[in-house]
Amino acid sequence: MEFVSIQTAIQQAINQKKEVMEKVSLRGWCYRERKSAKLAFIVLRDDTNTIQCVIERAIVSLETWTFAEQVCIESSIWVQGTLHEDKRAPTGYELHVTNMGIYQLAERFPITKDQSTEFLLDVRHLWLRSRELTNVWKVKAEVLRAIREFFLHKKYYEVTPPIITASSCEGGSTLFKIKYFEDEAYLSQSAQLYLEAMIFSLKRVYAITPSFRAEPSKTNRHLTEYWHLEGEEAFMNFEQLLSLEQELISFICTWVAEHAEEALKILGRDPEDLKKIITPFPRISYEEALEILKKDGIDVMWGKDLRTVEEEALMKHYDKPLLVTRYPKEIKAFYMKDDPNDKRVVLCCDVLAPEGYGEIIGSSERETDVNILIAKLKAQGEKPEHYNWYLDLRRFGSVQHSGFGLGVERVVRWLCKLESIRDAMPFPRTIKRMTP
Ligand code: 4AD
Ligand code: MG
Repeated sequence: MEFVSIQTAIQQAINQKKEVMEKVSLRGWCYRERKSAKLAFIVLRDDTNTIQCVIERAIVSLETWTFAEQVCIESSIWVQGTLHEDKRAPTGYELHVTNMGIYQLAERFPITKDQSTEFLLDVRHLWLRSRELTNVWKVKAEVLRAIREFFLHKKYYEVTPPIITASSCEGGSTLFKIKYFEDEAYLSQSAQLYLEAMIFSLKRVYAITPSFRAEPSKTNRHLTEYWHLEGEEAFMNFEQLLSLEQELISFICTWVAEHAEEALKILGRDPEDLKKIITPFPRISYEEALEILKKDGIDVMWGKDLRTVEEEALMKHYDKPLLVTRYPKEIKAFYMKDDPNDKRVVLCCDVLAPEGYGEIIGSSERETDVNILIAKLKAQGEKPEHYNWYLDLRRFGSVQHSGFGLGVERVVRWLCKLESIRDAMPFPRTIKRMTP
């Protein structure tokens, strides 16, 4: 028996303009079933689509009818039969079964309608087969493919930084400590410092790695383990960094709109919306952001970071991602370069997604002077000797350079219009959960 996917079978029938196609063999899982004395209806699901299969007792063998009677939700099965055009069917076709078999008859499936979010997370290993989540995985795979495609065009090298690290990149408060033989180590928060080392060898590098944040907060946008795309380029100035970021986001949006069109539609995202995310994106400084907020009646004191509520209020004014630049240096990381025109702020940029999905990119031009770096580390209560290898990068051929980090699940959440970032991960890790 030669199996094809449901979508391939339907596509073949459409291409050959056939109302009936004989001897089609499909396999997958039972999505729904209903039976009467004479007829059984099984909706078969595979990775590509679903199709209704009709089994008529009077015309199939006793064996096939017995299988049809037994099948329950999530049983794995194969079916063979004739594909018939049926205008009423959701996919336009139906399979009239001549033969079928069961690989495994499922036990009673624990997931039924209207179950709590917590229960669905407990049975995530089963729930991830759902139609919604399956389509999220498809979009996510295309986001990752778009990223690799983009950096191929840009002549970047993909590199593999470590996950086990001895120093922090984004501050001590969200570090996960692990026991490392006799020593203490941390799970990486960001590959940035390692990517900075690698630009002296390869000039343009990027990495897609897991990053870890011991985020004590329970929000819709924080995971404790997430996938991080980071890029770093030698000789790149701040202006070029901003251009690269908006080009990247626009490329991802167009790519996903074209390569995951069906999945997006099923998730309630019109692919046409994403095709409108084209450059240039609006840009404002932190200072300008405060002015806009003030006109809306929201007072943020200069020097305070923008919180979720403030970012949301700000984004009401925009329907494309927004680049917010030049935050006060006290609220940003030690490696960011001071703005030569205003020493109170740094040459950094956060990219905020539209529709209230929040920050998707954090980025900056990097400080190149070893003494300024040491002073900044000290000011933030860090011991410069812990960063000796990193400081060496400023001692041996230091050059202007810039880079960014993009949260893959943050982007997937936005593109798929997900209520929670958890659903952008097959097995989400949050403050309260590390199983299954
Ligand atoms: O803004 P962050 O902390 O920047 C850095 O880590 C830099 N070292 C990146 C770099 O320049 N190479 O994190 C970057 C991005 C955020 O904009 C956000 O999209 C995502 O990582 N992110 C998270 N995503 C999910 N859960 C969390 N807890 C996240 N924390 C950050
Ligand atoms: Mg950030």
